[in-house]
Amino acid sequence: MTNSVVIAIDGTAACGKGTLARRLARHYGFAHLDSGALYRLVALGVIEAMRDPSNEADALRAAGAIDLTRAGDPKIRSDVVGQASSKVAAIPAVRAALLQFQRDFARTPPGNSLGAVIDGRDIGTVIAPDAPAKLFVDARPDVRARRRQMELEGMGISRSEADLVAELTARDAADKSRPVSPLKQAPDADLLDTSDLGIDAAFAAALALVSPKVAKVLQSALKDRHRG
Ligand code: CDP
Repeated sequence: MTNSVVIAIDGTAACGKGTLARRLARHYGFAHLDSGALYRLVALGVIEAMRDPSNEADALRAAGAIDLTRAGDPKIRSDVVGQASSKVAAIPAVRAALLQFQRDFARTPPGNSLGAVIDGRDIGTVIAPDAPAKLFVDARPDVRARRRQMELEGMGISRSEADLVAELTARDAADKSRPVSPLKQAPDADLLDTSDLGIDAAFAAALALVSPKVAKVLQSALKDRHRG
């Protein structure tokens, strides 16, 4: 049994946690899981079946039929799917259905990796509460809206900054106030505000926060690996 090193990254919508998680994973050679993609895939399934994302039976059916091969499908990045994902994510049975997959990924990362970087809303609080390194990422709503605007532009979708501020803040409010696994900073997570940081500066700041913690446990993970 190896001792996987988990870096948990939670944060508000479009705060840049996905980019940071991918870069940290590449830096350490760890596996990366974008847990938001799971909820987005469930939402896409509900939308494609023309059902109601707030309806437990509809959402649960989609969660049971989740197609992970579509995680790279640009369709899941649309704001319609984003809003629906927040609705399915508030349903406890949906979260329960996705829990084991995420915990297994944390414990036994694919590709024989020594560790995993997982980003989402409840990684440091629920999925991997024992993770040695945790970040809570945030940025001002106008900054996040502009980042999302550029991302959507790349997909040929044009949205006003004001609309996006409204959408992101409404989704954050829903994610923070739901009774099950709400978005919140774990007590042992480091806060990283990326409002005034470009991608490289944000990555450097993230690395400075997590590297002492990762270094501490990486040694024992390596020893376990050689013993096992
Ligand atoms: O990319 P963005 O930050 O806008 O969102 P995402 O990380 O893809 O997550 C989409 C939605 O899924 C969030 O608004 C949450 O409602 C939900 N989610 C969650 O509840 N728990 C997670 N671990 C990840 C996402």
